[in-house]
Amino acid sequence: MTEEIRYFDCFAGIGGFHCGVQRIKSNRYEFFHTAYCEVEKNAQMVYEKACCIGDVQKIGDVKDIRTHKNPDGVLVNDFDILFAGFPCQSFSNVGYRKGFDDPRGQLFFYILDMLDFYKPKYFVLENVQKIHTIKGGGLLDEMKKALQDIGTGYILHTWDLLASDYGLPQKRNRIFFCGIRKDLVSELHLAPPPKIDLKTAKYPTTWHLLEKCEVDPKHYIPTGSRKTILTKPDNWQGDVNIDNPIARPLTATMSKWHRANQDNYFSDSYIHGTEPYVRPSVDIENEPIRRITPLEGYRLQGFPDEYADIAKELGISYSAQYKLIGNALPVDLAASVIKYFMDNVFDSMEEVKHGK
Ligand SMILES: C[S@@+](CC[C@H](N)C(=O)[O-])C[C@H]1O[C@@H](n2cnc3c(N)ncnc32)[C@H](O)[C@@H]1O
Repeated sequence: MTEEIRYFDCFAGIGGFHCGVQRIKSNRYEFFHTAYCEVEKNAQMVYEKACCIGDVQKIGDVKDIRTHKNPDGVLVNDFDILFAGFPCQSFSNVGYRKGFDDPRGQLFFYILDMLDFYKPKYFVLENVQKIHTIKGGGLLDEMKKALQDIGTGYILHTWDLLASDYGLPQKRNRIFFCGIRKDLVSELHLAPPPKIDLKTAKYPTTWHLLEKCEVDPKHYIPTGSRKTILTKPDNWQGDVNIDNPIARPLTATMSKWHRANQDNYFSDSYIHGTEPYVRPSVDIENEPIRRITPLEGYRLQGFPDEYADIAKELGISYSAQYKLIGNALPVDLAASVIKYFMDNVFDSMEEVKHGK
């Protein structure tokens, strides 16, 4: 018999977790969407259209949720697994790496409060890789300990994974925290999820997902900004290469025309060429060069193409879309992690049931 796993998608954004679980096929379990929480209006609108069918409970601010500390808050519909990609500004490189001292970092405590109050069987959380550099790794250790000890206790696995190892041509690292309530299994030792050969993926390189038709001219680098964007100052580290077959991590502020060593730019020679793996020689002074379009951004994060249509229908600006895309969890990565974790959890629970 197939077991229903009800999920609460917290800090849902545009639904990286939701789209991930929709891809998972198993004859032992099936995911069922019970509730989501998201405070930002554009994300809510996209999520409602793209991810919500039927009676899904909608909660705005995580601070309104009922927990021991907030007994008058909104009670979340019953759920078995908590998904949460908690806000990462305070943990990311571009923030000031303050961790818990920053009020946004403190949103992590709301996750702990929920685990303490609802005691779901499982959780999968994700965040930016940089958290393991804060306080020399001390913050990550504190988080792990808190997640292991909360409620009746959880067995925890933490993995630092790269999207390009799990089916998407993007160098985006995420840290995953996967937990199972201690009373459900005797032990669970897991290596990281097995990698996927990118050559077998839907989009093995950026070239495969770049729009070959004419795109809005607004996506081309404005003439006056070309020099600043495409020239490397002497004191800057890193390469300014454009036409990367594996994209740099998408940023939430990519509408701001970052320098080429921080973002993703593509020349017409590469886009319309026939060599996905080879950077063409480009006339940097004169050739048309553009940023990625929102459709390409959704693809780079693993979302279906319909997201671009939904966002357009909703009248969401390019800059707001880049923010949603840049904050999202890569769908293929989510699917790989959750499937691997749940398959192993089910194996382990069967062993307990059969007294092995
Ligand atoms: C890192 S993003 C998660 C993105 C999501 N996993 C996805 O795939 O799109 C964090 C999300 O938390 C939302 N958020 C921030 N503060 C919140 C709060 N107090 N309550 C609910 N959501 C909040 C942000 O608007 C943002 O969409």
